[in-house]
Amino acid sequence: MNEVSLSDKEYGRFRNLIRQVAGINLTQAKKAMVCGRLSKRLQQKQLDSYDDYIRFLASNAGQDEIQVAVDLITTNETYFFRESKHFDFLSAHVLPKCPPGRLFRVWSAACSSGEEPYSLAMLLAENLSTTPWEITASDLSTRILARAASGHYAIERATHIPGKLLMNYCLKGIGTQEGTFVVDPKLRNRISFLQVNLNKPLPNLGEFDLIFLRNVMIYFDMEVKRAVVNRMLPLLKPGGHFIVGHSESLNGVTEKLTAVFPSIYRKQ
Ligand SMILES: C[S@@+](CC[C@H](N)C(=O)[O-])C[C@H]1O[C@@H](n2cnc3c(N)ncnc32)[C@H](O)[C@@H]1O
Repeated sequence: MNEVSLSDKEYGRFRNLIRQVAGINLTQAKKAMVCGRLSKRLQQKQLDSYDDYIRFLASNAGQDEIQVAVDLITTNETYFFRESKHFDFLSAHVLPKCPPGRLFRVWSAACSSGEEPYSLAMLLAENLSTTPWEITASDLSTRILARAASGHYAIERATHIPGKLLMNYCLKGIGTQEGTFVVDPKLRNRISFLQVNLNKPLPNLGEFDLIFLRNVMIYFDMEVKRAVVNRMLPLLKPGGHFIVGHSESLNGVTEKLTAVFPSIYRKQ
């Protein structure tokens, strides 16, 4: 099958649809990448043109396909203890102040394949002996959430897990599972995985002491960033922390948070 070409008009319609659904801002510079990633999908669906594909996406029957398209154009890159300064900050300044007996609630709001919420779980298990805790881990992509919920990884993914935590909270596979590990089910059971599209009204998740929104705002333009953060802020308790990726910032996004450390904010 010949490579199908994507006209500027078709790309414009695709961009609008993806922005409307997921808030993701596809610039003109990403056209070649999008075309490359979607062309296989067109072949699988036996469609002859992007026009047909976009029409399908916009139809009632195409609602599940939007998920596939979003998965194809976003990256799910993540790893255990990514941006470790955030975890150091929590161990040094937040967790020692958690009152005993009061539930500490965390939201990992674009958790990808789960390394972020599991890193948090290991940290909380290690540091909070008298404070109960729970984590909500969400993402737009159901495909990636299924991987996250399994808590099962190739052993190479364990590289950044500190030795003590690896020993205490990860179980090495044997036999047919050799070369892999699972996160201890005792930690997995404290994490609820659910699909949440940050670009739409949020479900009732309760209030959190800590929210991680890392490495997802890079996909959003300023208008969407503001809408997403404003939608999330009512779910952060007063005095709670809001953490974004090192390359991201909340400058111009909200004035309701105070920066306490690079990429770490606190609600007044
Ligand atoms: C690069 S990963 C970030 C993973 C992790 N937070 C980290 O920093 O390592 C970005 C994730 O954002 C998710 N995402 C993109 N748009 C989203 C939206 N509108 N709502 C929720 N999640 C979204 C993608 O599915 C992807 O898993």
